[in-house]
Amino acid sequence: MNDSSMLSDELHEYWSGIANTFQWRKKWDSLQTGNFDECNVQWFNGARLNITENCLDRHLEKRRHKKALIFEPNNPNEAAIFYTYGELHLSVCRFANLLKSKGVKKGDVVCFYMGMTPELMIGILACARIGAIHTVVFGGFSPQSLRGRLEDSNAKIIITHDGGYRGDKVTPLKSMVDEAIENLSFVETVLVVKRTHTEIQMKQGRDYFYDVLIKECELFCPAVEVEAEDPLFILYTSGSTGKPKGLVHTTAGYMVHVGNSFKDVFQIKENDIFWCTADIGWITGHSYLTYGPLLNGSTTVMFEGVPNYPTPARFWEVIEKHKVTHLYTAPTAIRSLEKFGSDIPESFSMKSLKVLGSVGEPINEEAWQWYHKYVGKERCPIVDTWWQTETGGIMISPIAGVTKLKPAHATLPLIGIVPVLVDEKGREENAMVASGNLCIKYPWPSLARTIYGDHERFKLTYFSTYKGLYFTGDGARRDEDGFYRITGRVDDVINVSGHRIGTAEVEEAINEHLLITESAVVGFPHEIKGQGIYAFVTCNDDLILPEVLIKEIRATVEKVIGPIAKPDVIQIVHSLPKTRSGKIMRRILRKIVENDLGNIGDTSTLLNPECVEDIIKGKKS
Ligand code: WTA
Repeated sequence: MNDSSMLSDELHEYWSGIANTFQWRKKWDSLQTGNFDECNVQWFNGARLNITENCLDRHLEKRRHKKALIFEPNNPNEAAIFYTYGELHLSVCRFANLLKSKGVKKGDVVCFYMGMTPELMIGILACARIGAIHTVVFGGFSPQSLRGRLEDSNAKIIITHDGGYRGDKVTPLKSMVDEAIENLSFVETVLVVKRTHTEIQMKQGRDYFYDVLIKECELFCPAVEVEAEDPLFILYTSGSTGKPKGLVHTTAGYMVHVGNSFKDVFQIKENDIFWCTADIGWITGHSYLTYGPLLNGSTTVMFEGVPNYPTPARFWEVIEKHKVTHLYTAPTAIRSLEKFGSDIPESFSMKSLKVLGSVGEPINEEAWQWYHKYVGKERCPIVDTWWQTETGGIMISPIAGVTKLKPAHATLPLIGIVPVLVDEKGREENAMVASGNLCIKYPWPSLARTIYGDHERFKLTYFSTYKGLYFTGDGARRDEDGFYRITGRVDDVINVSGHRIGTAEVEEAINEHLLITESAVVGFPHEIKGQGIYAFVTCNDDLILPEVLIKEIRATVEKVIGPIAKPDVIQIVHSLPKTRSGKIMRRILRKIVENDLGNIGDTSTLLNPECVEDIIKGKKS
């Protein structure tokens, strides 16, 4: 079956062995084709399947009455909802029939802008059932951001809530959708799932209530057979330049690596209860809240709320209530709970817990130790999993209970994944102990295949920096055990509370404010969020009070992108440091906000060296 691929016989054998554990309508003709240079990697060509048969139907015989999904609402006084595999299968079929009744066909894009309720998971699986492509937009993005993603993906149907709960807030999702789609003629249908019973406007002939339509839907929907390389979903993420890019994941490759990595990394057993706290609006919620657990017939917990509502004991209560065995969360959540002291988790035994996971950003050693001691009671291994929206699934991570633990290290690549460290020129660092830019050497099945509508940008972003390699955008160090420690992004992407934000995007948003001439945004070390957003701005009007301007800038960013991108610190400056050719020297600004003044370097060649001193003097701690 081997062809012109770059895979060694060993890798070839490994991946085909894994793929054989899934259910196919027809197996592949070639395991893998294409390469990074030509940016045309494909997997399992010729194969035909439906991922929901792997997530649902194939479990029905043995696990029909086993819990597939546990839904824990935002409000602890509201009852949890349980779906068995049988019930989830039925719900997905009915939702799929509803989509069909609204004209959704194979290959159509369906957009979800929802809070975290079961209908979101059921909805994306319903898309997969009929070969439609789901694109989930995180409910924390603004209407303007949603509009941009709709314009890019051409989704003609949107599924939303009247309102979404998150902590003590109600987000008016439906009215945000109304704002986003004003005059967008290609949007034909808005489907509203009732949740908060907030008052909303319904446009006749366009807007429908889910609970009314679902009653008319039949209970079974046959799974549509798709090709291995048919798209499963588009997920937007930020890069160092331009607007967010819609990464496209295809069906078979994504399924194979996500399903298998879930089982391996977390060492899942039949009766385990897996809780991934991520929102489905992010890749972690796609891969390890939805697809990974369901592909393995596991029980997955979905939580609508936030860690500190109504109290900072909420996570620990959920763990005890549902006897969670695996907790998979982000360092930001850990740090934000650490702040309330160890007494709170200490008062819970959490004896069901077996494995802890971390994802989304580097975990600092202190947070690792706290997580290990107070949550895992020093008996649960921590898997620090490194991966990206682009990689689809986990790439570098300990295997729970197997790999030696080293705080703050993602440790070793999973089998089948071959990372390399390269220097600036792209030369591979061959010594065991090394540091450099992290690249991946060979194709793996769940690599994103393209940026929706812009293959050239895909090629340029990931495969042009270093010839023949996939470039991750992260820096890393490798120690004497071969263990990797991810040191963070080396490009203009920052990681705020585990959310990826492009500094260029924030600058663009700030510049929409009428009084702003220029801005430069950099990340700074933040105790809870990992990185915070620091914006330097120049203003063309000195009649406005700085505090008023700062408030307005924050509101502008919230309107353009959403609350998650609001700068933590805004410093108004006379000018920004520039090279003689007019390029803003963000490197200098980064050193200033990191308090690393010794490493600012030579500023004498700048166009305006005097501004550096001014900026340092005016720096806000
Ligand atoms: C960062 C999230 C250190 C990294 C799954 C990466 C991490 C970006 C880790 C991707 C980790 C993710 N240790 N850094 N364990 N996991 N990152 O696309 O900078 O939202 O490039 O995917 O998060 O973020 P994304």
